[in-house]
Amino acid sequence: MCARKIIIDTDPGQDDAVAILLAFGSPDEIEVLGITAVAGNVPLAMTAKNARIVCELANRRDTPVYAGCDRPLTRALITAEHVHGKTGLDGPVLPDPTMALADGHGVDFIIETLRSHPAGTITLCPLGPLTNIATAFQMAPDIIDKVQEIVLMGGAYFAVGNITPTAEFNIYVDPQAAEIVFKSGVSLTVLPLDVTHKALVTKPRNDAFRAIASPVGHAVAEMTDFFERFDKEKYGSLGAPLHDPCVIAYLIRPELFTGRQINVEIETTSELTLGMTVADWWGVTDRAPNALFMGDIDADGFFALLTERLARL
Ligand code: RIB
Ligand code: CA
Repeated sequence: MCARKIIIDTDPGQDDAVAILLAFGSPDEIEVLGITAVAGNVPLAMTAKNARIVCELANRRDTPVYAGCDRPLTRALITAEHVHGKTGLDGPVLPDPTMALADGHGVDFIIETLRSHPAGTITLCPLGPLTNIATAFQMAPDIIDKVQEIVLMGGAYFAVGNITPTAEFNIYVDPQAAEIVFKSGVSLTVLPLDVTHKALVTKPRNDAFRAIASPVGHAVAEMTDFFERFDKEKYGSLGAPLHDPCVIAYLIRPELFTGRQINVEIETTSELTLGMTVADWWGVTDRAPNALFMGDIDADGFFALLTERLARL
Protein backbone atom coordinates (compact mmCIF):
# COMPACT_ATOMS: atom_id res chain seq x y z
CA MET A 1 0.00 0.00 0.00
CA CYS A 2 1.53 3.37 -0.93
CA ALA A 3 1.52 6.15 1.63
CA ARG A 4 -1.37 8.60 1.57
CA LYS A 5 -0.24 12.06 0.43
CA ILE A 6 -1.45 14.75 2.81
CA ILE A 7 -1.21 18.46 3.53
CA ILE A 8 -1.47 19.31 7.23
CA ASP A 9 -3.18 22.67 7.81
CA THR A 10 -2.52 23.62 11.38
CA ASP A 11 -2.39 26.14 14.24
CA PRO A 12 0.16 24.61 16.67
CA GLY A 13 -0.92 24.22 19.50
CA GLN A 14 0.44 21.31 21.54
CA ASP A 15 -2.12 18.87 20.18
CA ASP A 16 -1.36 19.95 16.60
CA ALA A 17 2.31 19.29 17.37
CA VAL A 18 1.56 15.73 18.50
CA ALA A 19 -0.51 15.17 15.36
CA ILE A 20 2.38 16.32 13.15
CA LEU A 21 4.78 14.06 15.05
CA LEU A 22 2.40 11.10 14.66
CA ALA A 23 2.34 11.72 10.91
CA PHE A 24 6.14 11.91 10.74
CA GLY A 25 6.35 8.67 12.74
CA SER A 26 4.17 6.86 10.19
CA PRO A 27 6.00 7.12 6.83
CA ASP A 28 4.61 3.81 5.54
CA GLU A 29 1.07 5.14 5.76
CA ILE A 30 1.52 8.90 5.42
CA GLU A 31 3.58 11.23 3.21
CA VAL A 32 3.44 14.81 4.45
CA LEU A 33 3.78 16.94 1.30
CA GLY A 34 3.79 20.15 3.31
CA ILE A 35 2.44 22.00 6.31
CA THR A 36 0.37 25.18 6.03
CA ALA A 37 0.06 27.31 9.14
CA VAL A 38 -3.10 29.25 9.94
CA ALA A 39 -3.98 31.75 12.68
CA GLY A 40 -5.91 30.07 15.47
CA ASN A 41 -4.61 28.95 18.84
CA VAL A 42 -2.06 31.76 18.58
CA PRO A 43 -1.41 34.37 15.86
CA LEU A 44 0.01 33.24 12.50
CA ALA A 45 3.60 34.30 13.21
CA MET A 46 3.58 31.92 16.18
CA THR A 47 1.79 29.02 14.47
CA ALA A 48 4.18 29.28 11.52
CA LYS A 49 7.14 29.28 13.93
CA ASN A 50 5.75 26.41 16.02
CA ALA A 51 5.17 24.23 12.96
CA ARG A 52 8.87 24.60 12.12
CA ILE A 53 9.89 23.87 15.72
CA VAL A 54 7.98 20.59 15.49
CA CYS A 55 9.54 19.71 12.12
CA GLU A 56 13.00 20.22 13.60
CA LEU A 57 12.11 18.25 16.73
CA ALA A 58 11.30 15.33 14.39
CA ASN A 59 14.39 15.95 12.23
CA ARG A 60 12.13 16.74 9.30
CA ARG A 61 13.59 20.01 8.03
CA ASP A 62 12.81 18.65 4.54
CA THR A 63 9.11 19.33 5.05
CA PRO A 64 8.07 22.75 3.66
CA VAL A 65 6.17 24.94 6.11
CA TYR A 66 4.11 27.79 4.61
CA ALA A 67 2.42 30.69 6.35
CA GLY A 68 -1.25 30.89 5.40
CA CYS A 69 -4.03 33.24 6.44
CA ASP A 70 -3.48 35.49 9.42
CA ARG A 71 -7.15 36.08 10.20
CA PRO A 72 -10.58 34.56 9.55
CA LEU A 73 -12.52 35.34 6.36
CA THR A 74 -14.71 38.01 7.93
CA ARG A 75 -14.45 37.92 11.73
CA ALA A 76 -11.71 39.24 13.97
CA LEU A 77 -9.21 36.60 15.08
CA ILE A 78 -9.89 34.88 18.39
CA THR A 79 -6.94 33.01 19.90
CA ALA A 80 -6.55 30.49 22.75
CA GLU A 81 -3.48 31.42 24.78
CA HIS A 82 -5.54 30.56 27.85
CA VAL A 83 -5.33 26.94 26.73
CA HIS A 84 -1.99 26.67 24.92
CA GLY A 85 0.06 29.38 26.64
CA LYS A 86 1.57 32.54 25.16
CA THR A 87 3.79 30.71 22.68
CA GLY A 88 1.16 28.14 21.74
CA LEU A 89 3.67 25.42 22.58
CA ASP A 90 4.16 26.11 26.29
CA GLY A 91 5.46 23.19 28.32
CA PRO A 92 8.81 22.00 26.94
CA VAL A 93 11.75 24.30 26.30
CA LEU A 94 12.35 23.90 22.57
CA PRO A 95 14.90 25.80 20.45
CA ASP A 96 13.74 28.42 17.97
CA PRO A 97 13.61 27.01 14.44
CA THR A 98 16.58 27.43 12.12
CA MET A 99 14.65 26.34 9.01
CA ALA A 100 13.07 29.19 7.05
CA LEU A 101 9.46 29.41 6.04
CA ALA A 102 8.88 28.09 2.51
CA ASP A 103 8.42 30.80 -0.09
CA GLY A 104 4.87 31.63 -1.01
CA HIS A 105 1.51 31.64 0.70
CA GLY A 106 0.06 28.49 2.23
CA VAL A 107 -3.16 28.88 0.24
CA ASP A 108 -1.19 28.95 -3.01
CA PHE A 109 0.66 25.79 -1.93
CA ILE A 110 -2.67 24.02 -1.37
CA ILE A 111 -3.95 25.14 -4.78
CA GLU A 112 -0.75 24.30 -6.67
CA THR A 113 -0.37 20.91 -4.98
CA LEU A 114 -3.92 19.88 -5.86
CA ARG A 115 -3.54 21.14 -9.46
CA SER A 116 -0.22 19.32 -9.94
CA HIS A 117 -1.34 15.89 -8.69
CA PRO A 118 -3.88 13.47 -10.15
CA ALA A 119 -7.41 14.01 -8.86
CA GLY A 120 -8.21 11.97 -5.78
CA THR A 121 -4.63 11.60 -4.56
CA ILE A 122 -4.30 14.43 -2.02
CA THR A 123 -5.92 14.44 1.44
CA LEU A 124 -6.29 17.71 3.32
CA CYS A 125 -5.94 17.48 7.11
CA PRO A 126 -7.11 20.72 8.76
CA LEU A 127 -6.30 20.84 12.48
CA GLY A 128 -7.29 24.47 13.09
CA PRO A 129 -9.72 27.08 11.76
CA LEU A 130 -10.67 26.33 8.13
CA THR A 131 -9.60 29.71 6.75
CA ASN A 132 -6.82 28.43 4.47
CA ILE A 133 -8.95 25.65 3.02
CA ALA A 134 -11.96 27.88 2.39
CA THR A 135 -9.78 30.59 0.84
CA ALA A 136 -8.20 28.03 -1.50
CA PHE A 137 -11.67 26.82 -2.55
CA GLN A 138 -12.82 30.40 -3.16
CA MET A 139 -9.70 31.32 -5.18
CA ALA A 140 -9.59 28.09 -7.18
CA PRO A 141 -12.94 26.27 -7.32
CA ASP A 142 -11.40 23.85 -9.83
CA ILE A 143 -9.44 22.15 -7.03
CA ILE A 144 -12.54 21.13 -5.04
CA ASP A 145 -13.22 18.08 -7.21
CA LYS A 146 -9.54 17.12 -7.05
CA VAL A 147 -9.45 16.65 -3.27
CA GLN A 148 -9.36 12.97 -2.24
CA GLU A 149 -10.82 13.68 1.20
CA ILE A 150 -10.80 16.23 3.98
CA VAL A 151 -10.21 14.73 7.43
CA LEU A 152 -10.53 17.47 10.00
CA MET A 153 -10.68 18.06 13.73
CA GLY A 154 -13.60 20.32 14.62
CA GLY A 155 -17.14 20.61 15.81
CA ALA A 156 -19.17 18.65 18.30
CA TYR A 157 -22.63 17.21 18.84
CA PHE A 158 -23.04 15.55 22.24
CA ALA A 159 -20.03 17.48 23.56
CA VAL A 160 -21.61 20.73 22.29
CA GLY A 161 -18.91 23.41 22.76
CA ASN A 162 -15.52 24.13 24.32
CA ILE A 163 -15.05 27.82 23.53
CA THR A 164 -18.73 28.84 23.83
CA PRO A 165 -21.63 26.82 25.21
CA THR A 166 -22.39 25.62 21.67
CA ALA A 167 -19.24 25.89 19.54
CA GLU A 168 -15.89 24.12 19.23
CA PHE A 169 -12.87 26.42 18.81
CA ASN A 170 -11.74 25.59 15.23
CA ILE A 171 -15.23 26.14 13.83
CA TYR A 172 -15.99 29.12 16.07
CA VAL A 173 -12.90 31.08 14.99
CA ASP A 174 -14.03 31.01 11.35
CA PRO A 175 -17.63 29.81 10.90
CA GLN A 176 -17.85 31.29 7.39
CA ALA A 177 -14.84 29.23 6.31
CA ALA A 178 -16.34 26.13 7.90
CA GLU A 179 -19.61 26.70 6.04
CA ILE A 180 -17.72 26.83 2.73
CA VAL A 181 -15.91 23.57 3.50
CA PHE A 182 -18.94 21.70 4.82
CA LYS A 183 -21.01 22.80 1.77
CA SER A 184 -18.21 22.12 -0.75
CA GLY A 185 -19.28 18.56 -1.53
CA VAL A 186 -15.78 17.25 -0.77
CA SER A 187 -15.67 13.85 0.95
CA LEU A 188 -15.49 14.94 4.59
CA THR A 189 -14.57 13.05 7.76
CA VAL A 190 -15.00 14.94 11.02
CA LEU A 191 -13.24 14.16 14.33
CA PRO A 192 -15.32 16.24 16.80
CA LEU A 193 -15.02 16.86 20.53
CA ASP A 194 -17.37 13.87 21.01
CA VAL A 195 -14.36 11.73 20.11
CA THR A 196 -11.40 13.85 21.16
CA HIS A 197 -12.70 14.35 24.70
CA LYS A 198 -12.31 10.58 25.07
CA ALA A 199 -8.64 10.69 24.00
CA LEU A 200 -7.30 11.90 27.32
CA VAL A 201 -3.63 11.85 28.33
CA THR A 202 -4.04 10.21 31.72
CA LYS A 203 -0.99 9.95 33.99
CA PRO A 204 -0.10 6.40 32.83
CA ARG A 205 -0.31 7.53 29.22
CA ASN A 206 1.84 10.57 29.92
CA ASP A 207 4.32 8.31 31.72
CA ALA A 208 4.43 6.14 28.59
CA PHE A 209 5.39 9.21 26.53
CA ARG A 210 8.13 10.05 29.04
CA ALA A 211 9.34 6.44 29.04
CA ILE A 212 10.14 6.77 25.33
CA ALA A 213 13.19 8.58 26.74
CA SER A 214 13.85 10.60 23.61
CA PRO A 215 13.62 14.34 22.89
CA VAL A 216 10.26 13.68 21.18
CA GLY A 217 8.89 11.58 24.05
CA HIS A 218 10.01 14.13 26.62
CA ALA A 219 8.61 17.08 24.63
CA VAL A 220 5.23 15.39 24.14
CA ALA A 221 5.02 14.56 27.85
CA GLU A 222 5.85 18.18 28.73
CA MET A 223 3.38 19.58 26.15
CA THR A 224 0.50 17.45 27.35
CA ASP A 225 1.36 18.09 31.00
CA PHE A 226 0.99 21.79 30.25
CA PHE A 227 -2.14 21.89 28.12
CA GLU A 228 -4.23 19.58 30.29
CA ARG A 229 -4.91 22.43 32.74
CA PHE A 230 -7.77 24.01 30.76
CA ASP A 231 -9.78 20.79 30.38
CA LYS A 232 -9.00 19.54 33.89
CA GLU A 233 -10.26 22.80 35.36
CA LYS A 234 -13.32 23.09 33.09
CA TYR A 235 -14.44 19.48 32.76
CA GLY A 236 -12.58 17.69 35.53
CA SER A 237 -10.91 15.68 32.77
CA LEU A 238 -8.31 13.04 33.65
CA GLY A 239 -5.83 14.60 31.25
CA ALA A 240 -5.27 16.64 28.11
CA PRO A 241 -7.60 15.78 25.20
CA LEU A 242 -5.51 14.90 22.16
CA HIS A 243 -7.83 16.52 19.63
CA ASP A 244 -5.71 16.81 16.49
CA PRO A 245 -3.79 13.51 16.63
CA CYS A 246 -7.18 11.79 16.16
CA VAL A 247 -7.13 13.06 12.55
CA ILE A 248 -3.81 11.37 11.79
CA ALA A 249 -4.69 8.23 13.73
CA TYR A 250 -7.85 7.94 11.62
CA LEU A 251 -5.73 7.93 8.46
CA ILE A 252 -3.52 5.16 9.86
CA ARG A 253 -6.10 2.99 11.64
CA PRO A 254 -9.67 4.10 10.80
CA GLU A 255 -11.03 1.09 12.68
CA LEU A 256 -10.16 2.86 15.93
CA PHE A 257 -13.13 5.17 15.29
CA THR A 258 -16.86 4.76 14.77
CA GLY A 259 -19.29 7.32 13.40
CA ARG A 260 -22.22 8.04 11.13
CA GLN A 261 -22.65 9.52 7.66
CA ILE A 262 -24.90 12.47 8.49
CA ASN A 263 -25.74 16.03 7.57
CA VAL A 264 -23.73 18.70 9.38
CA GLU A 265 -24.37 22.39 8.86
CA ILE A 266 -22.68 25.40 10.45
CA GLU A 267 -24.40 28.17 12.36
CA THR A 268 -23.07 31.43 10.87
CA THR A 269 -25.64 34.05 11.87
CA SER A 270 -26.89 33.71 15.45
CA GLU A 271 -24.48 35.29 17.94
CA LEU A 272 -25.88 32.91 20.57
CA THR A 273 -24.89 29.72 18.70
CA LEU A 274 -22.32 31.03 16.21
CA GLY A 275 -19.96 28.27 15.03
CA MET A 276 -22.18 25.42 16.21
CA THR A 277 -21.95 22.27 14.09
CA VAL A 278 -25.62 21.38 13.74
CA ALA A 279 -25.21 17.62 13.33
CA ASP A 280 -28.29 15.63 12.34
CA TRP A 281 -27.04 12.61 14.31
CA TRP A 282 -30.58 11.17 14.67
CA GLY A 283 -31.61 11.77 11.05
CA VAL A 284 -34.58 13.99 11.87
CA THR A 285 -34.20 16.23 8.82
CA ASP A 286 -34.25 15.57 5.10
CA ARG A 287 -30.91 17.35 4.68
CA ALA A 288 -28.49 15.24 2.63
CA PRO A 289 -25.58 13.65 4.51
CA ASN A 290 -22.32 15.50 3.86
CA ALA A 291 -19.90 14.17 6.48
CA LEU A 292 -18.70 11.04 8.23
CA PHE A 293 -19.07 12.38 11.78
CA MET A 294 -17.22 10.34 14.38
CA GLY A 295 -18.80 9.52 17.72
CA ASP A 296 -16.47 7.08 19.47
CA ILE A 297 -12.84 6.00 19.72
CA ASP A 298 -10.88 2.99 20.99
CA ALA A 299 -8.80 5.20 23.29
CA ASP A 300 -6.42 2.46 24.42
CA GLY A 301 -5.80 1.46 20.82
CA PHE A 302 -5.24 5.10 19.91
CA PHE A 303 -2.65 5.65 22.63
CA ALA A 304 -0.89 2.37 21.85
CA LEU A 305 -0.55 3.47 18.21
CA LEU A 306 0.52 7.00 19.13
CA THR A 307 3.15 5.91 21.64
CA GLU A 308 4.59 3.27 19.31
CA ARG A 309 4.88 5.78 16.45
CA LEU A 310 6.37 8.57 18.58
CA ALA A 311 9.01 6.09 19.73
CA ARG A 312 10.15 5.74 16.12
CA LEU A 313 11.23 9.40 15.90
O1 RIB B 1 -11.13 22.65 19.93
C1 RIB B 1 -9.91 21.98 19.80
C2 RIB B 1 -9.18 22.46 18.59
O2 RIB B 1 -8.90 23.86 18.72
C3 RIB B 1 -7.80 21.80 18.42
O3 RIB B 1 -7.47 21.73 17.06
C4 RIB B 1 -6.88 22.74 19.12
O4 RIB B 1 -5.53 22.66 18.63
C5 RIB B 1 -7.48 24.06 18.75
O5 RIB B 1 -7.01 24.40 17.44
CA1 CA C 1 -5.39 22.76 16.30
